[in-house]
Amino acid sequence: MTTLNELLYPKIEALKTDGNYRYYFTINKSAKHFPNFYYEKNGVSQKVINFCSNDYLGMSVDEEVISKLSYTSHQTGTSSGGTRNISGTTIHHQSLENTIAQWHKTEAALVFSSAYLANITTLYTLAKHIDNLVFISDERNHASLIEGMKSSGNQKFIFKHNDVAHLEIILQQLPLDTPKLIVFESVYSMNGSIAPVKEIVDLAKKYNAYTYIDEVHSIGLYGSTGAGICQLEKLEAKVDIVNGTLAKAVGVIGGYIAASNTLIDFIRSYGSGFIFTTSLPPAVCAAAEKSIQIIQKHQSLTNTMKGLVNYCKRLLTENNIPFIENLSHIIPIKIGNAKICKAIADKLFFENNIYVQPINSPTVPIGEECLRVIITAKHTRAQIIQLVTSLKAIKFEKITNSL
Ligand SMILES: Cc1ncc(COP(=O)(O)O)c(C=O)c1O
Repeated sequence: MTTLNELLYPKIEALKTDGNYRYYFTINKSAKHFPNFYYEKNGVSQKVINFCSNDYLGMSVDEEVISKLSYTSHQTGTSSGGTRNISGTTIHHQSLENTIAQWHKTEAALVFSSAYLANITTLYTLAKHIDNLVFISDERNHASLIEGMKSSGNQKFIFKHNDVAHLEIILQQLPLDTPKLIVFESVYSMNGSIAPVKEIVDLAKKYNAYTYIDEVHSIGLYGSTGAGICQLEKLEAKVDIVNGTLAKAVGVIGGYIAASNTLIDFIRSYGSGFIFTTSLPPAVCAAAEKSIQIIQKHQSLTNTMKGLVNYCKRLLTENNIPFIENLSHIIPIKIGNAKICKAIADKLFFENNIYVQPINSPTVPIGEECLRVIITAKHTRAQIIQLVTSLKAIKFEKITNSL
């Protein structure tokens, strides 16, 4: 009989042959020196600048957030010790959910272990309980959204990325009384595009569709108190379900949905991925809530980040380094080949002490491999100059020829 390992080994080898095998850099994260971190090279500690962290505002190293986590851990212990139903709902879970609901101006919110789980659970559970629910999904949606829709087995239509004309063609073909859910993101993390949210919600209204928006990459960064693109565009009341993360700009861990009381009560009552798992530690909830409160009050953090992002984009342009233009904070430098992408990332890392993770399949389609540069509120202009100078010095053609 073929062993399990014999079945799996060729799959791994195929990834290596295509240049899509994932090598992790093991880094020694430093709260004090973020976005710098350290790693061991031949027994010697090297300092490297991180240009790919999603800790956009540096909240994971914020003193007040760290103190809240540490203080509440001492008060409540490290784990909740139970599912939400079995002793795992604490005052900190409740308080966090209230804060999130107020932030998004929704009636209620529900916290999960991650936004990934929140997406899968919510979409799957809706599909299983609403007869003939049809999904209409942006072609660039995140894996967790795709997985939630796919695993339900419900009918799904895919519209071209951010293309409202195509979305309307699909909507026109479906009976008005068929329940349909348009699933999309506000900021797409790989190309940095921003969805035409207003046009999408207007179409939803016109064709009797519901809307599900993943705001994972806009939470903390857009809108008057950082609640995301819906807040920026004053569309909160027009979207049915918002998904967000507590792990990127908020700097902690966990994810959530925010929606009406009934919808939240429904997912709380039927969502397997919510019900049958230990709830987040109370201290994590307290720290996430503290971080949100800081973000709400201090928009200066976001402004600092955006100023540095614009500075980086300007330097790249002045130095003829092509990147995908967009209106968001994400700076993708398109390479288009997995092996070249990795070779450039290796050169940046080992020769220039700069960490930019090469993004390859399945995160992006084959041929769209890129270096996804993230500038946080904690970077300095000097660090950005170092990045651009290093990128400029790399002879892309030379790397291509040597592969
Ligand atoms: C668009 C999008 N949605 C959801 C998630 C999942 O978020 P989390 O890290 O909280 O699971 C990610 C994570 O990268 C994402 O990019």
